[in-house]
Amino acid sequence: MRDTLTILGLESSCDDTAAAIVRLSGDAPDEGVILSSVVAGQTELHADFGGVVPEIAARAHTEKLDLCVEEALDAAGLTLHDIDAIAVTAGPGLIGGVLAGVMLAKGLSVASGKPLVGVNHLAGHALTPRLTDGARFPYLMLLVSGGHCQFLIAKGPEDFERLGGTIDDAPGEAFDKTARLLGLEQPGGPSVEREAQVGDPKRFRLPRPLLDRPGCDMSFSGLKTALLRERDQLIAAKGGITRQDRADLCAAFQASVSDVLAEKSRRAIRAYLALSPDAPTLAVAGGVAANKSIRGALETVCAETGVMFIAPPLALCTDNAAMIAWAGIERLRAGHTDGLDLSARPRWPLDQSAAPMLGSGKRGAKA
Ligand code: KG4
Ligand code: ZN
Repeated sequence: MRDTLTILGLESSCDDTAAAIVRLSGDAPDEGVILSSVVAGQTELHADFGGVVPEIAARAHTEKLDLCVEEALDAAGLTLHDIDAIAVTAGPGLIGGVLAGVMLAKGLSVASGKPLVGVNHLAGHALTPRLTDGARFPYLMLLVSGGHCQFLIAKGPEDFERLGGTIDDAPGEAFDKTARLLGLEQPGGPSVEREAQVGDPKRFRLPRPLLDRPGCDMSFSGLKTALLRERDQLIAAKGGITRQDRADLCAAFQASVSDVLAEKSRRAIRAYLALSPDAPTLAVAGGVAANKSIRGALETVCAETGVMFIAPPLALCTDNAAMIAWAGIERLRAGHTDGLDLSARPRWPLDQSAAPMLGSGKRGAKA
């Protein structure tokens, strides 16, 4: 392997258009340096529709991707000639967006003569703790965002075992829907968390779905239905809900999600520790990991079980291209590149041997 590898990464699988440049030097073979990372969000474009509209997302990616690449190169003070390979999210995600990224990456690869590396978006998230903290395999990973929710044991750059995941909504999606039901602004996670700070989590008792069943699978869609019922009962009784009612509902919802994630993490840790890892570690990724109450609950579980807790900086937990560039480096180091027949895959489970999830991540069919 060459002493230094400099990789351009592209990400366009959901509603963030991103480009980044990550460098790996021979001096620190397990740590990447992010030379630049540009993310152009699309929240405003989708704001009127209550969710990501795939066609609007795809068009915006097509318009923004090359600008993001230019910006990432400028910020790193590099040109395409200085890049060793081009890594791109080839799935899973919204097909129009993934295609936009894959087509641009192929064009750049042909124009520059640099190799192309197709990356699984979930592998990007799952390998981030190596980029940020040099995590050693095997480590346990919890992906919790608007589109993903699963426990994985990362055993190698392309070797992941899924222990379980949501069978319906992802937790971020449930936060977003809860915010909508209570008239709070999107994205729902931060709004619900803000309200919950002044709420009583015990006034309403919402369910803890699937805790009565063994294993690490989760379900979050019933929670918002239970919350809707409580809200409607309040409206029927009093003609509306007060600020305090809203805060109490948010607190109850957040407590339920925290409890479920904590208990399922406990179970996932038990299964993971059976592998006798040298440096037991649980890492989180995804926007929901920003939630202080959820993060606190996970930290407590880790402290109880003697497992190290890693939460990468939020900008690297949410969708970004630095994680794609890093996953590209890991794939390239393992000797893999892709040809111009690289295809965009809307579904692409990390653990091909695990049973397919029922409807995991309706926002982006994240498999
Ligand atoms: O990882 P991310 O930026 O995008 C994907 O979904 O891939 O995660 C966004 C999700 C949204 O659903 C948002 O409501 C949720 O993460 N989120 C939060 C918080 N901040 C963002 N959920 C709970 N608490 C938060 N503080
Ligand atoms: Zn993601």
